[in-house]
Amino acid sequence: MDKEAIRQQIVATANRRYATKKYDPTKHISEADWQTILEAGRLSPSSFGYEPWRFLLINNQQIRDDIRPFAWGAVNSLNGADKILIILARTDVTYDSDYVKDLVENIKGKHYSPTSAPSQHFKNFQERDLKLDSDRARFDWTSKQTYIAMANMMTAAAELDIDSCPIEGFNYAQMNDYLASKGFMDPTKWRVSVLVSFGYRDQPIKPKVRQPLSDIYQELN
Ligand SMILES: Cc1cc2nc3c(=O)[nH]c(=O)nc-3n(C[C@H](O)[C@H](O)[C@H](O)COP(=O)(O)O)c2cc1C
Repeated sequence: MDKEAIRQQIVATANRRYATKKYDPTKHISEADWQTILEAGRLSPSSFGYEPWRFLLINNQQIRDDIRPFAWGAVNSLNGADKILIILARTDVTYDSDYVKDLVENIKGKHYSPTSAPSQHFKNFQERDLKLDSDRARFDWTSKQTYIAMANMMTAAAELDIDSCPIEGFNYAQMNDYLASKGFMDPTKWRVSVLVSFGYRDQPIKPKVRQPLSDIYQELN
């Protein structure tokens, strides 16, 4: 494919992805496509490479029914999307956490010490530069990162002609309580960040309505 064809495909994919409000419940995503979408999420960038996310796939009708009363923005998806992911963000990503130690040693295969230069650099970044001084602040920071994974998954889906919808329309306290009460999430380490649905639309793709580039882009000289 030449460069111009690639450019056109990128823009076509961006136009093709839209927040799907009506899914066809009879259509299912193939396992190969689903694994590809998950891979796009897994390979997403994260701050310091600490991957502060977890993707929970709702796999039965009971869970859909349970969350429906407090997930108003998900009702269209609950009615017909083939897959609904609950994306969790970690609250325990600190320089001296068991999680960071484990990730550095066992995933990155590097030496870990809380007093090492990289650990102290990360500590300064979190505490001095970002002022992450509470569970809430740390959650907001990791939650932002989960949206990158979500966006990559939605773009991958659009490339595969699969529809999607990002979902923030739910009560966060009730969702957190529900996931913890079911044992789906350890509330001392995780909070729900966002939901995203995938499936096949039962409606035309909605044309994009956006501000012109001149209103949102500025070159600094
Ligand atoms: C962070 C975020 C949260 C959203 N939450 C919901 C939601 O709860 N329910 C819903 O139907 N759409 C939701 N949307 C979809 C937006 O309304 C939609 O992306 C926006 O209107 C632009 O339309 P488009 O995605 O079709 O281009 C959300 C989108 C984003 C990015």
